[in-house]
Amino acid sequence: MSQFAEVSFIGEDDSEYFRRLFDRTFNNLNPRYLLPADEDEVKRSELHHRMMQFVFQGNNYVGPVKEALQFGQHRRVLDLGTGSGIWAINMADEFPRAEVIGIDLAPLQPRSVPPNCTFELCDIESGIPYPDGYFDFIHARSIHTGIRDYPQFLREITRLLRPGGLVLLIEPDLTPIVDGKPVALAPAGLGGGDWSTFWETYRNCLRRQDIDTTVPQRLTDMLTTTGAFENIVKRDGNIPVGFWPKDPLSLSVGQLQWLDYDLFLPALRPMFLFHGLTENQVRSLITGAQRDLYHPVAELSTHVNIVHASKLL
Ligand SMILES: C[S@@+](CC[C@H](N)C(=O)[O-])C[C@H]1O[C@@H](n2cnc3c(N)ncnc32)[C@H](O)[C@@H]1O
Repeated sequence: MSQFAEVSFIGEDDSEYFRRLFDRTFNNLNPRYLLPADEDEVKRSELHHRMMQFVFQGNNYVGPVKEALQFGQHRRVLDLGTGSGIWAINMADEFPRAEVIGIDLAPLQPRSVPPNCTFELCDIESGIPYPDGYFDFIHARSIHTGIRDYPQFLREITRLLRPGGLVLLIEPDLTPIVDGKPVALAPAGLGGGDWSTFWETYRNCLRRQDIDTTVPQRLTDMLTTTGAFENIVKRDGNIPVGFWPKDPLSLSVGQLQWLDYDLFLPALRPMFLFHGLTENQVRSLITGAQRDLYHPVAELSTHVNIVHASKLL
C-alpha cells in the first residue's frame, strides 16, 4: 500500500494546461502532439499499462532494473511521456527508496501519489531539465509519435543517465498484423482491409508532422549508433487484438489491447480532421476500422518492440 502525499505544483484550476480541438481536449504545451489529453486517453494509458504487465508476466519492466536501482542511497527513475502516471506510481510503490519522476505535456496524473513520486510538465522536444548523469533508470514507452528527432531524444537520455544506468524503450509498431502478416495496406473488402487503411492514414498524418514512423523497428540500431550503450537486448511482444486467443494469458492481453483500440479509433478523429480529411472521410475511416474490430473476419494482432541497454561505464 502507498502512503500518499499531495503534489502541489499544479492548482485546482488547471484549465490553462489544456486546449480544445474538434470536441476533444489536448495538451497546451506542444500543439504538434495530436492525441488527446483527457479522461479517455488516461483510461487508454491505464489499459496499455495493464496489458504490458501481462506481457512482462506481472512486472512493470524487463531487464536488469533491480540491479540498476540497488545500492547507493538515492536512486532515481525517470518516466518519459508518463501519460496517466500509473507506471511511475507502480514503480514508486515497488521501489520506495527510489525517487520516481514522470514527465508529460499535460497534468493527467493523479494528485495523490506515493511520497517518492512526482510529476512535472515538460516538452521533451525542448530538452529535459535535469543535470547530466542524474538518473539510474529511464523508461520511455509509446512516445515516439510525440518526438520528431528521436536520435536527439536518445542523446538526451544518454546525457541524463549515469554511467552503468539503464534505459528501457518500448514502442508498438504502427503497421497492423492481419492473420499473422504485417499489412501495410490491404485491399478494402478483405478481412482487415479497413483496419489497415485506418493505420495507413494514421502513419501518413504522423509523417506530415515529421514523425519517423519506422522508429519502433529501429530502436536497437538507433541505440547502437549512439555508441554510448552496451548489453543492448531486444525482445518482441506479439500482442493479439481481441478475443480469438485460446490460452488464458494471450486472451487477457488480447482483451486489454481490444479495449485500448476501442478508445484509440475515435481518439484519432481530431488528428485526421486537422490534416484536412473531411468529416465524411473520417467517419468512414473510423467506422470501417470499428467494423474490423467489432466483427473481425481475420485475426488481428500487433507487435511491440522492447529494448533495454546499459550506458557504458
Ligand atoms: C501514448 S501515451 C503513452 C503514455 C505512457 N507512457 C504509457 O505507456 O501508457 C504518450 C504520452 O507521451 C506524452 N508526450 C508525447 N510527446 C511528448 C513530448 N514531446 N514531451 C513530453 N511528453 C510527450 C503524451 O502527452 C502522452 O501522455
